Amino acid sequence: MPTSLPNSSTKQNESDTMATMITEYFSANDTARAGALIRKGSLVVFPTETVYGLGADAFNPEACARIFQAKGRPQDNPLITHIYDRSQVSQLTRNLPPGAEILMDSFWPGPLTIVLPKHPTVSDIVTAGLDTVGVRMPRHAAALAFLKEAGTPVAAPSANQSGKPSPTTFAMAKNAMDGRAEAIIDGGPCDTGLESTVVAWSEGPTASGWTILRPGAVTREDLHSVLDTLFLPCDNSRDDSLLARSPGTRHPHYRPRAEVLLFTNIAELTTFTTTDPESKWTVIALEAETQSGKFPSTTSTSARLYPDWISLARHLYSDFYELDGENVTGIFVQTPTKHDDSGITEALRNRLLKASAGRWVATPKTF
Ligand code: TXA
Ligand code: MG
Repeated sequence: MPTSLPNSSTKQNESDTMATMITEYFSANDTARAGALIRKGSLVVFPTETVYGLGADAFNPEACARIFQAKGRPQDNPLITHIYDRSQVSQLTRNLPPGAEILMDSFWPGPLTIVLPKHPTVSDIVTAGLDTVGVRMPRHAAALAFLKEAGTPVAAPSANQSGKPSPTTFAMAKNAMDGRAEAIIDGGPCDTGLESTVVAWSEGPTASGWTILRPGAVTREDLHSVLDTLFLPCDNSRDDSLLARSPGTRHPHYRPRAEVLLFTNIAELTTFTTTDPESKWTVIALEAETQSGKFPSTTSTSARLYPDWISLARHLYSDFYELDGENVTGIFVQTPTKHDDSGITEALRNRLLKASAGRWVATPKTF
């Protein structure tokens, strides 16, 4: 384990003394200077189609160590490396597991991170001491231009303070990383709004196959449609060996300051009572839900309603951010059930279960 990183209980916050450097802002078509900063060992926040990332040269361990400091990130949580061209894969790994190339052909550039056996030259700081490295080629035009200018794989976690929702707008990225990174590229709002799907190959005594470590916009069905190999089941809350392989899943994640309570049906909200007359609650839900009933009178702040799950997912983290700014006490968030599963819903449910710490307005659900 590297010794220069903060220990796992170290957290930075908005008022600490780290946030002192001058941060430059670049527009999405001004990526050359941002790329040059990466080559000099600086930190650059950049947009992707999923969320904003906090990038450093993946082959500069000192620069990568600064990522952990800037985020207050536990040192046992590995970083994803970002590339713009398939030729860079050989810098990061020497051997590709079965089907890896099919996954790259099918989903890159795009929101799929593939965990591969790491090349010996990839630093332990990037991989948190694991023998694997996560690799992703994002689809966002400014991200690809920036990565090309950088000319080296860029290690980048989401650009939030550790534990908070990932930034999906320039304003959120600025709020999280002003004074902590040398530059931020303004790519506007992110399209997907939830982090990439992470898959890993595992070889076991009885079965080998790919496992989804984190669901995202590339869905289980998408993966099945191109790959005939086995997809092993994944339950991040129970499987210890999986936790060891995907350390990020063990830490609290995606939480706004406001309390988040989940519901599936508007009728469940009628069971909610609060003893605090000053408390402000609001709702994030599908528009269609308003046809089945009324929101409780405690929801004094106007509801955020979306035509479909894709739009709700796209705006979820920026809604959390804005509602924290309005000092709301709590947010009821409509949550897709397994029954609703298609497209983004598995990823959305995964993030909501974490944002709420599994708390429901009414009866806890068993999924
Ligand atoms: O969409 C995304 O993936 C964004 C953008 C910036 O690309 N990045 C992102 O990074 O969400 P981060 O660090 O917030 O989440 C990375 C996840 C963590 O859960 C981490 O544990 C897992 O990927 N991960 C990274 N490398 C891994 C590895 N070698 N083995 C297993 N899991 C890994
Ligand atoms: Mg993250």
